[in-house]
Amino acid sequence: MKKYIFGNFKMNMSLKDTESYIEKFLPLVENSKNEIVIFPSFVNLMFAKQKLTASKVLLGAQNVSSETFGAYTGETGAFMLKSVGASYVIVGHSERRKLFLEKSDVINKKILEALGVGLKVVLCIGETKYERTNKKYKQAIEKLLADELKGLYENELKNIIIAYEPLWAIGTDKRPSTKEIEEVALIIRNKIKQEYSENSAKNIKVLYGGSINSQVAKAYCMAEGINGLLVGGASLNPQEFAKIANV
Ligand code: PGA
Repeated sequence: MKKYIFGNFKMNMSLKDTESYIEKFLPLVENSKNEIVIFPSFVNLMFAKQKLTASKVLLGAQNVSSETFGAYTGETGAFMLKSVGASYVIVGHSERRKLFLEKSDVINKKILEALGVGLKVVLCIGETKYERTNKKYKQAIEKLLADELKGLYENELKNIIIAYEPLWAIGTDKRPSTKEIEEVALIIRNKIKQEYSENSAKNIKVLYGGSINSQVAKAYCMAEGINGLLVGGASLNPQEFAKIANV
């Protein structure tokens, strides 16, 4: 089955680095049947798009404004991302939540903005270490889904991918067991069933993200209810990310 393998470059790579990355990466994944998406920084998007035109690798942005357009200095609107050729956008990454204090109401607005221009959304959700240790992760995840998918029509869910990224697993070399992520994938699908329908619960794509590398990628990708991976650090090396993308 086709897997969704996404590489979030975060705040790394100059224009030149992006060019050499793409030149090395594309030949390594040309036979992949998976949906592969790279998420460079805003300033490299347009250039990356040109470099990707002859390939099946798609482009995504790491963030989007919660506003549509106008006097919002430093912000980037969804229509701008669309116009430079992005297909996806990451919303609610834990670094945005923690370092830039993004809350569920803003994340919900960002999702609506992105869907409004035809971008696909990768919504990142996950529990803190405290919530995991104190067995509060189910409530935490259900609340994020309820608050951040508010106002979405069922037919819009086809453009939403949920990335389960436990906060304590990002960039730490620690990760939940495959059994634990299977449990969370089920929690997500049950919540979607409760809010929408059994059909949507079955069809929604759920990714896992947090300290994925090429050694563990296959096991995590093949876990029950998991459709792919969102990769941070390990996506910065084209050879390593290609191994993951070819699972
Ligand atoms: P990591 O990051 O793979 O470096 O843990 C994942 C993410 O932040 O999406």
